[in-house]
Amino acid sequence: MSQKKIIFSGVQPSGNLTLGNYLGAILNWIPLQEEYNCIYSIVDLHALTVRQVPAELRKKTRSLLALYIACGLDPEKNVLFVQSHNSAHAELAWILNCFTYTGELSRMTQFKEKAQKHADNINAGLFTYPVLMAADILLYQADLVPVGEDQKQHLEITRDIAQRFNNIYGDVFTIPEPYIPKVGARIMSLQNPEKKMSKSDENPNSYISLLDKPDVIMSKFRRAVTDSEAIVRYDEENKPGISNLMSIYSSITGKSYGDIEKEFEGLGYGDFKTAVGQTVAETLRPIQEKHDQLMSDKAYLDNIMKDGAQRAEGLSYRTLRKVYKKLGLVPRS
Ligand code: TYM
Repeated sequence: MSQKKIIFSGVQPSGNLTLGNYLGAILNWIPLQEEYNCIYSIVDLHALTVRQVPAELRKKTRSLLALYIACGLDPEKNVLFVQSHNSAHAELAWILNCFTYTGELSRMTQFKEKAQKHADNINAGLFTYPVLMAADILLYQADLVPVGEDQKQHLEITRDIAQRFNNIYGDVFTIPEPYIPKVGARIMSLQNPEKKMSKSDENPNSYISLLDKPDVIMSKFRRAVTDSEAIVRYDEENKPGISNLMSIYSSITGKSYGDIEKEFEGLGYGDFKTAVGQTVAETLRPIQEKHDQLMSDKAYLDNIMKDGAQRAEGLSYRTLRKVYKKLGLVPRS
């Protein structure tokens, strides 16, 4: 790879990818492929922290790769690969576990939330989830990590772990920076705008799946929870529902909140919801068509996975070897 800056990010192949994942993460990856060396993973090992149905996980992994491509990621320009295809991730994660304190892991908001939600399965993987994420990023010496707002804390712990390691062993890891979009970094649930939109929500009306058909999208937006003021105005605190719809509309159209307020002046929420629904449905239609077409070509997707895994392995091997050497592990002859 050339001396361009390195970008790493990933999405879990659990549940249906939502509009939140798209606007908070993937949409921002698209322009980066022209300027940076980008590596995007389908982080299937992370998905195992919650019980998965094997056949579904397999299908969702392929479907996520198809979505990456359908959203506009060029498999030639970017390294697209499945995390479990490169064993270096699990290897480095073990090492970094030995440089991470249980105290700092127990402060992670996502862990606390997931532990509450899956009280019958608070496994050690759920606890050390951020360490595997640190391994993902540090293996490739990533400079920037484009993610949604909810991942900021995991980026901070990644930086802490890297700095701690570097302080002992010298400059082994690049310290990565988060890259969070100004609009769309935290898309909220359509049913409860105090909560983030999540693919694991039990109520499907709370999220838009990237594979939802236009009539479903329209009906979900029509039912979105708003307020009784009937004025399209951005006010996150007092009008979280409308503000959320405005941020969805703004991130897709590029219009400012001021422009949107003017566009819908004197119109009711019904008109606004219809416009947001139509914009989302029109954005997703070509993505869905491409996704479906790619899903019928298993050999093509398998080839991309194979090529991506080889490239990912090649890139991460250097870091892993250096880490082993610094730690005093005897190289295998
Ligand atoms: P995941 O699959 O939960 O989310 C994938 C990406 O979507 C963003 N996101 C959102 N953005 C805006 N609004 C929302 N409601 C919303 N929900 C999710 C997330 O911030 C994320 O960018 N732990 C990561 C996966 C991961 C990773 C990594 C990311 C594993 N290793 C290394 C970066 C680098 C996660 O949250 O996945």
